[in-house]
Parts: sequence; structure tokens; C-alpha cells
Amino acid sequence: MNIMILPKPEIVAGSFVKDYEKIYAESCANPGLFWENIAKELSWYKTWDRVLDWQYPYGRWFTGGKCNIVQNALDRHMQTATKEKLAYIWEGQDGTVRQFTYGQLNEEVCRFANVLKSLGLKRGDHASIYLPRIPEQIIAMLGCAKIGVVHTVVFSGFSIEALKNRIVDGEAKIVITADGYPYKDKTIECKSTVDEAIKELPQVEHVIVVKRAGNNIVFNPGKDLWWDEVTKTQSTDCPTEQMDATDPLFILYTSGTTGKPKGIIHSQGGYMVGAYITLKWTFNLTPDDVYFCTADAGWITGHSFIVYSPLMNGVTTFIYESVPDYPNPGKWWQLIEKYKVTKFYTAPTAIRSLMRYGDNWPRMHNLSSLKILGSVGEPINPEAWLWFHEKVGNSNCPVIDTWWQTETGMAMIAPLPSVPLKPGSAFKPFPGIEADIVDDKGIPVPPNTQGFLVINKPWPAMFLDVYKNPQKYREAYWEVVPTKVYFTGDSAKKDEDGYYWIIGRNDDVLKVSGHRLGSAELESALVSHHAVAEAAVIGKPHEIKGESIKAFVILKQGVTGSDQLKEELKQEVRKQIGPIATPDEIDFVDKLPKTRSGKIMRRVLKAQELGQPVGDTSTLENQ
Ligand code: WT7
Repeated sequence: MNIMILPKPEIVAGSFVKDYEKIYAESCANPGLFWENIAKELSWYKTWDRVLDWQYPYGRWFTGGKCNIVQNALDRHMQTATKEKLAYIWEGQDGTVRQFTYGQLNEEVCRFANVLKSLGLKRGDHASIYLPRIPEQIIAMLGCAKIGVVHTVVFSGFSIEALKNRIVDGEAKIVITADGYPYKDKTIECKSTVDEAIKELPQVEHVIVVKRAGNNIVFNPGKDLWWDEVTKTQSTDCPTEQMDATDPLFILYTSGTTGKPKGIIHSQGGYMVGAYITLKWTFNLTPDDVYFCTADAGWITGHSFIVYSPLMNGVTTFIYESVPDYPNPGKWWQLIEKYKVTKFYTAPTAIRSLMRYGDNWPRMHNLSSLKILGSVGEPINPEAWLWFHEKVGNSNCPVIDTWWQTETGMAMIAPLPSVPLKPGSAFKPFPGIEADIVDDKGIPVPPNTQGFLVINKPWPAMFLDVYKNPQKYREAYWEVVPTKVYFTGDSAKKDEDGYYWIIGRNDDVLKVSGHRLGSAELESALVSHHAVAEAAVIGKPHEIKGESIKAFVILKQGVTGSDQLKEELKQEVRKQIGPIATPDEIDFVDKLPKTRSGKIMRRVLKAQELGQPVGDTSTLENQ
């Protein structure tokens, strides 16, 4: 598509970056200086000795510096008028509204940090947060970060096995959860999921339980603690721990090409700088903004762009507890009108599903407060982009399509509001970021040619490592192409104007409604069922979800396939990973295409399924 949407003069005038090309050129000429100047916008207990210590494949940023991201997210606002302004407005599915000023949020965070301390947790310990989208999810994260406890947030949609794996690998001493939470007409019981997950895990000393749904739970005295009881007696003062810039802030698990999710470790200092500036510049954040991001803090989008960056930028963030079409498909538009939201950040899958309900829903509401729209998580097709731009933004708001990953911690390829936009393209690299599209030898490909998206230089919010698996860190990210660059796992093209067009993952990672799932993870869930001998999972293009999940299953000898068995297998995956991983289709087959070394060639299955050329099959064992 060759449409180019030019920025409105008033948007350019109000932009932090008015001339992208100039700032970009300057940033690349001296990246150290560029990032240092941004770091200086934040507050540090001690400034760094070196901006970057790069020893391939490890980048350590702001070494020698002392800071705490919570000092920037909360503490420093206590001396300014920001203390009295709203940090969060939260609306529950039942219409309950909870609001926190920066001052109030700080008090809650201090109380919770003091609870952790009273339970013996200290700097360097690990905590798992398994909470739904309620304010305590954010308070718990900040409370950990404040005293240097490394948090691992597990998305509340994950089930027993997925939670257990993350608690075990992440070595959590404590789990923070809720009794349950409303999800449409149901109550999801998360406390019982935690009970199951930690049944054989003596490492977990305590479970702190937030009362949300009021459902009955099994309460284990001594081990379980009610959030409201333990926090109310604590002091609202708590000193913030002075961390090294290179200390870990959190671990967030994400799917890769093996069955086991990878623990992505992020730093206090570099992450802070990268997350802070990328949201500020891509969304032109100003103090009067009401910012609404529809993600869950259980994902990286939430960590960076619901919790840490909005607070560092001192804006008011709105959070809705439930899903976009509950109780009706006009819910988000009604909320935007009610709270006069100025910046709205969501995912293509949600845009496509709301688009399906027709233009009437957004038209019923006054959306004129909106200034900037954003998209993240998967490629946005031009049709959805244009609908979002026209029907939600009334053709007045730039659509900021931000490409990034759990690993990058910050937006990497993304437009700034002052640039000309092409619907469906994520524009060009953020200032300070050097990216390219290369072939398997690492050689840049010509314009309009598909290749691997790579990042050529270290960036401040780059992950520190894969937790307990440095080999994976090297192999999966830094040794795939031979030029010592960061391999993203995505395919993309650059057009003749240098605009990036992301095509999608080039590994066995699926993007289902923006959620990242590994084929191998799904397969291992299927194979754990007693009827299954082997399984192979592929992603198929899906109009709304981006990709849908199709599984090919070989049953054990003597087992006959039936619809009932398919249903059972779906339930098994839901139980192990979560509802987001439910296969859409299951086929029972006799054989799977494999290499001579026994690796399943999912690529061949996918080509066959989609009626596309199968490509090179020279390594196929059984032609
Ligand atoms: C993968 C990373 C970053 C927050 C959410 C996802 C895909 C992400 C875009 C975009 C096209 C995108 C990529 C990437 N992706 N944003 N704007 N356009 N694709 O984080 O779960 O770590 O997934 O999401 O495939 O590799 P994540």
C-alpha cells in the first residue's frame, strides 16, 4: 500500500522530536552521548562511570551508577505537584472505580515493601506475582523493585503448570495472588491455581492473597496471608534501596523455540532509561495526558508501558479490568469518552475484533479527547490501521505502530508522532537504535526484500541474560547470524524509503492474539496426555487473532481418535498452559514430516496446510 499520511502541523509543533531524521543521525553519530543525555533527565543516587560496557554479547549500561527505578517512578514526584495528581484510575468490570494519586500510590507501595521486609525478603530475593489486572498487581511490582526484590509477574491467564514452571525456574520465595477475579460472567479462581502449583514446592514460604472476587478459598494459616491484613499495620514510609544500575529489576518469562519458556532478565538502570524515553517520545507524553493502555502488566508491554514508564513520566494512566467487548463492544469507547483519554495504546487483534462489530460502536461516543493512538504485539494490517485511524481517531491522531519484544524492554522500531506514516509499517528505528534487514550470512538485503530483522548495536533496555541459561542467550540471540548482531527472530522488509514492514516470526514461535507461544511448548502439553504419541503445532493465518493454533497429533497404538478426544486434548493444553493456548484445530495423523535426525519439520506441515510450495525438503527423512 502506498498511502502516506502526513503529520498535522499542530502535532509536529507539540512534539518532543520535531525532526526525526536529524535527531536520528545525531544519535547514531554519538550513541553514548545520546543515551547519556536521556539518562540525565532521570534522577540517580550516583551517576555512572561509563555509559556502556560492551563485551559481546553482553551490554552493561551506566556501570558504576546507582539508582532505583521506583525513585524515578514515585519518590522524586513526592517533592513536586505530581504527588497530588492521579497516577492510576482503575475501573472494574462491575463499574467500581479506584483511584490513586502518586502520593497514595507511594504509601501503598511503601506498606507493601515493608510487608516483604517483615517476611524476611531482601535485595536479590525473588517473588512471583500472579495477580489479575487490579491495582495491587502494580503495587506489588513497585514494592518489590523498591527494595531490590526481583519480581516475576506471571500473567493471570496462565494455568497450573505454566505458573509452577515459572515459580520453580524463577526461585520465588513468595507468591502474591488474589482469591479470584471476575472474567465476563465467570469467576476465575487464581488462589486454587497457586495452591496446586506450589503443592510440592517448599521454596515458597508465603502466599499473599488480595481479596478481589470474595470467592471461597482454602486458606493455609501460617503460610497464607491476606493482603489487606498484613499491609494495614505497616508504615507508609520505606527507604528505597540504592541499586547498581546493572542489578536485575525483574525476570519475565517468554516463549521461544524450546518447550521451556525463557526467563528474560532486565536491569534497573538501562531498562529505566530505555522504557522512560521510548514511551515519552512515541506518545508525546505530557503531564496533562490521560493514557490508556489495554495490555496486562503480566506482559512486557504492561511492565514498561503501564507501570514503569508512565509513572516515570508522571502521567495519569487508566486501566480497565476486563476485556474489550464486555459488557458490550462499545466499552473501550465509552471509557475513552468518560475519562477523556488522550493517548490510547492497544493491539491489532483487538482492533480487528472491534472493527468487526461495525463503525456504530465508536460513533456512539465522543472520542475527541484522543490525540495519539498506538498499536503493539503483532503486525497491523493496513485495513485495521486505517479503521483505527479513521473511526477511532477521526483521522486526527497518528497511529504509532511500535515494534519491540520482551527482550528489548523498550520500543525499537516505531514512529514518532511528527513523522509521515505509512499504514501497516512500523516506520524506522527509534533514535539511538541501529537496525537492519539481513540474510543468513548477516549481509544486508536490498530494499523490498524479505530478510531477518537484526539490531546492530546494544541498546539501554537490552536484557541482561536468560535466567540460568547463558548458553541460550548466546545461541538464540547472538549467534544465529555470524555478524555478532542481535537476532530478533522476526522477518521483515525495508522499502525504498527505509520504512520497516514487519512480516512476523521466522522461528517456531506463534503470535496468537498478540500472545507469544512456542510450538514446542504446546506440543509438550499435548504429548503429556496419555493418548498422545507425538504432536506438531503450527500457526495458521487468522483474520482476527493474527494466527490460530493447529495441532497434528499421532495417537498411541490402539487409541482411536474422536471428537471427544480432541476436546480432551484442548482441555489438557488449557490446564497446562492456559486458555490463550487452546488449539483451534486438531488433526489426527499417522506420520509427521521429520528430518533424518528426527526433528519435526513444521515448515513442511504449514506449507501443506496452506497449499503453498513446500520448499527445500532435502533434509526430509521420508520424502
Ligand atoms: C514479538 C515479541 C513488545 C510488546 C508485545 C510483544 C511481535 C511486537 C510488533 C509490531 C509487528 C510485532 C514480533 C516480536 N511484534 N510488536 N508492532 N509489529 N510485530 O512482546 O510477547 O515479546 O513478542 O511480537 O514478532 O518478535 P513479545
